[in-house]
Parts: sequence; structure tokens; C-alpha cells
Amino acid sequence: SGALAPNGSKLRFEAIAPVEYTADDFTVAEGFDWHPIIRWGDPLFDDAPDFDWNAQSAEAQRLQFGYNNDYTEIQEIPGTNGKRAVMFVNHEYTNENIMFPPETDADDAIEIGMAAHGLTVVELERKNKNFPYSYVRGAALNRRIHLDDEFQLTGPAAGSDLLKTVDDPEGRTVLGTLGNCAGGLTPWGTLLSGEENFHGYFRSAATSEAEQRYGFADRATARGWESKHERFDATTEGYENEINRFGYIVEVDPFDPTSTPRKHTSLGRFKHEGANVIVAENGKVVAYSGDDERFDYLYKFVSRDTYVEGDRAHNMTLLENGDLFVAKFTGNSPASEIDGSGELPEDGAFDGSGEWLPLVLDGESAVPGFTLEEVLVHTRLAADAVGPTKMDRCEDVEPSLHSRRVYVACTNNSNRGVGDYAAADEVNPRTENRDGHIVEIDEQGDQTSTAFAWNLLLVAGDPAQGDQTYFSGFPVEQVSPISCPDNLAFDSVGNLWISTDGAPSGIGYNDGLFRVTLGGEARGRVEQFLSVPRDGETCGPIIRDEDRTAFVSVQHPGEDGEWGAQLSYFPDYDGQGPKPTVVQVLPQRG
Ligand code: FEO
Ligand code: CA
Ligand code: CA
Ligand code: CA
Repeated sequence: SGALAPNGSKLRFEAIAPVEYTADDFTVAEGFDWHPIIRWGDPLFDDAPDFDWNAQSAEAQRLQFGYNNDYTEIQEIPGTNGKRAVMFVNHEYTNENIMFPPETDADDAIEIGMAAHGLTVVELERKNKNFPYSYVRGAALNRRIHLDDEFQLTGPAAGSDLLKTVDDPEGRTVLGTLGNCAGGLTPWGTLLSGEENFHGYFRSAATSEAEQRYGFADRATARGWESKHERFDATTEGYENEINRFGYIVEVDPFDPTSTPRKHTSLGRFKHEGANVIVAENGKVVAYSGDDERFDYLYKFVSRDTYVEGDRAHNMTLLENGDLFVAKFTGNSPASEIDGSGELPEDGAFDGSGEWLPLVLDGESAVPGFTLEEVLVHTRLAADAVGPTKMDRCEDVEPSLHSRRVYVACTNNSNRGVGDYAAADEVNPRTENRDGHIVEIDEQGDQTSTAFAWNLLLVAGDPAQGDQTYFSGFPVEQVSPISCPDNLAFDSVGNLWISTDGAPSGIGYNDGLFRVTLGGEARGRVEQFLSVPRDGETCGPIIRDEDRTAFVSVQHPGEDGEWGAQLSYFPDYDGQGPKPTVVQVLPQRG
């Protein structure tokens, strides 16, 4: 239809009803179809074997699409008339409980699991915009990035003693990337990927303040890699610093399969959910990144150098040097009006002002007692010293290129206001925050500014179940219930799209993808577009072709099942087991 949806988008749909958490269905709005593009195990190269549940090997997995697709981005390949694209995908972690038949050798399972981590670059093709993409086996840009591939450390901490190991006495070259969760597309066409839950892959003595602050423990890890590869055991002499070489923002050039991916120390080391870049008014680039841990912080990086349109080689250096800040939010309502219930204060808004506190300023440490290298490697400790606001788990942080406002998905925080933990405040206004909320930041005309204004766009939950929610004043009886916002995206007219992770344990429905109107009278309206199968998390998302199509990565479908007691058979429903899969949604044809 040519008519516009009320908010100016060409994408018209009736919101779907929420889907019970026990359903193993991929549900889309009426008039749309879903198409798997690529699934775990699909062969990427001409010499890659087809996937076989019962004949898995590390050699095969290295040549196949990895597990647990999270961040996903698609860029059209110039000169192909919209028919060819390159897709980049993170493989965050593995679910061994549902990957392997029980007779799988334990050592093999470790090697296969390792090979299922990392990153994928793969080409896509389609007949035209009315048809779904398929991936192209053996295409020139196809690439798997593995745990034994070299990454170059950049920025002031590269070469630091804190990053040296027996394998890398220079402290400049790391093998592999871990826990890659969300990410971002840079204005120069590279991809950023956040190393999030890297702590779970290492055994460490956990005697130092830094090791403890990052969650390391002196016990066997869940996957046991340290039993076969000593660098994952930081108690091994020579590998004490291996743990310091993960927790960064990674940058990959998908258009050059021979390029060396980089880890940028300038953006600090923490459980980076991801990072997203916007070019500031003065030409510097600004990257926003959240530390996804209960009571951790929101960060902003401002480049030293400025963006040069068309100079890709130069722009690819912009994240290597700059300043780093951490956010402090101040509410404008009396603290006595924030009682942890989520009820609005008397001025009718959760809102206020904020300050970006410097950790690195003019290229030097701004934190007394910390060297520059220490700030960038032990960033959480440096941030603790300057008093930022403890947040309810910042997931994706995305600047809108339409309004230049910045959206922060605070997914939940079961410990908010519990016992000795920090109490509710105006920017995290609910005790035991089960369903999360979205912060909207306005940098007020200067993206590099150290002052900002903020408000809560929405406080999530299910109004029909009596949850205390807020949707920017939009009538709560007219919204789709939503819980645990995780990834964010924008469509062609600047509507916000939210994908969720954890809604089943919040509001009791499967996770999904939602459109949120940001402007005009319908600001705050939430409409559910699709729902993913049981135990699945909705990742991506991508809205393209003037909003005619959407892409989501379905991560960890059926993850609470076990071999022989599968909870999901998505996407093939062939009675074998679930496979994490990238899905495209298109209007039905004919
Ligand atoms: Fe991997 Fe913060 O989600
Ligand atoms: Ca207020
Ligand atoms: Ca996430
Ligand atoms: Ca999450």
C-alpha cells in the first residue's frame, strides 16, 4: 500500500498479540512472512561440509556459520544495484547442552565450541527488493574470525606491561575475541563489536581488586577451555595478563577479508555491550557504550582527530585516540518523590540533567592515582573513583541520526534497591527493576559536550498485568507489553525499534521486536512487530528498504532444554534441535 503509517513510515502493520513463553513459534504481523537467511552450521566456503548434528568437528565448524548470532549488520555492496550485500554477525557464546549429542567426546566439544565463537562476514544476494536474501556460499568477502586469529591492540594502552604475556611480549597482538554481544556500524563502513561477558572464559586467582571488580573467579569455567589451552588459566605463569586483553571494542573491515581486526583500548575495558558512533558538529566522532552489569556505568568516547568525508583510511584511525567520559545523571525531582514504585514524580517526568565526567582528558589520565594505561585497562576501577551513576544494566546505546538524541536500553536490575544495593533514583526509578526502561539523552546541539539533558522515554512492563509503566504519556492500554529492552535500531523516518531479551521471566511472553514512535502525539506508542521462539532472544535488529523489510538474529532458541528434551526446533522444525538463525521478514508476495 502507498499510504503512510501515522508516523510517516511506509511500514504499516497491526501489532501482534504477545505470545506465551512456552510457544516455539516465530510470529510476524499479518501480511508478512519470515525467511531464515543463515543458521548455525551453514557452510560458508566451498570446501565447508554441510552441517550434520551427529558428525560435528572443529574443522567443520571453523568453516561454518557460528553459534548464537547476536549483533547483525547488513551493508549493500556498492555497484550491485541493491542485489548484493555483506552481512557481519557476532557469535556471542555457545549452548553446549543443546549443541551436542551425548556421545560427543568432551575434548572435541571444547574445540567445536571454541570454533563456534567469533565473528562471521558473509555475502548475501537477492533477485530484487521483493525477495528475501540468501547467503552466498564461497563468496569473496566470506570470512570467519576465530579464537586463533590475530587482533591488533590500538591506542595508549597498546604495548602496556598490563597487556603482555609470554606469547605476546610486546603487548600488541591478541588472539581472538570473546563474548561479542551488540555492536555498531561506523560512518566509514566498518563494524564495531563489544566484548561483553569475557570474564566467564578465564580462571584467575582473583586476588587483585581489578580481577574481582571484573567478576573473575578461581574456579573451573563452565566450558573448561582452560583445561586444554593454558592461556585461559590466568594462574599459569606467563598468562597472568591474558584476562586484560579482552573486554574491548573491536573494529572489523568487512570489505577486506585480509584485514587485521583491531581492539581499541581508547574506549576502555569493561563488559562492553557494543558501541555506536556519531559524527559530532565539530567533526570529531563520538562513540557511546554501556557496561552491561548491574550498577555499572554508561560511557562516551570523543575522538582526538576529526572525520574526513571520503577518507576511509584516515577515518579508520579515529577510534584509536581520544578522550573517555562516564555519565552522571541528576534528577530534577525531589528524591522523596522517587519511591522505587515507578510512579511518576509530581512534575510528571523522570528527567533531569547530566554530566560526562572525564576519565581521559586531552589524551591524559583525568583520574588521580591512575596512569592512562590503568584507566584504559582497569576502566571500572577508574570510573568508580569519579562517582558516576550506577545504572540498571546499559545494553545498546544508540544515537539517532535523525534527532541526534541518544537512546540507552537499561534492560533490568533485579538488585536495584535491595538490601545494601543502591536505591532507586530518577534515572533508575524502580526497585527490583524486572522489566527495564529506556533513557533518552539530549546533548543539546554539541555531541562532544560534557553536559546533557535526559528523560525516560518509557518504563517497560505489561500494564494489563498491573505493572507500573510509563510510555511518555501514551495511553498504557494501547501499547504492546514490553520487557527487558536490549538492542536498538532506527527506521528510515527515525522511529525507534527495540528488541528484547528476558521478557519470558518478566512479563511471561516470548521476546520480540517492537516499534516505538518517538515524535508527535503518538510518542511512546509501542507496537510489537514479531515474536521469536521459546527461550530465544531477539538480536539485530535491522530495518531496511524504506522500512519494507526487517532482519533479526534469533539467539539461543531453546537454551533451557537439553539434548533429548529439546524445547525448540526453530527454524527448521525437523525434530532435530534448535539453531540460532538470522531471519528476514518481508511483506507476503502475491
Ligand atoms: Fe549480551 Fe548485554 O547482552
Ligand atoms: Ca522530574
Ligand atoms: Ca545484548
Ligand atoms: Ca541481554
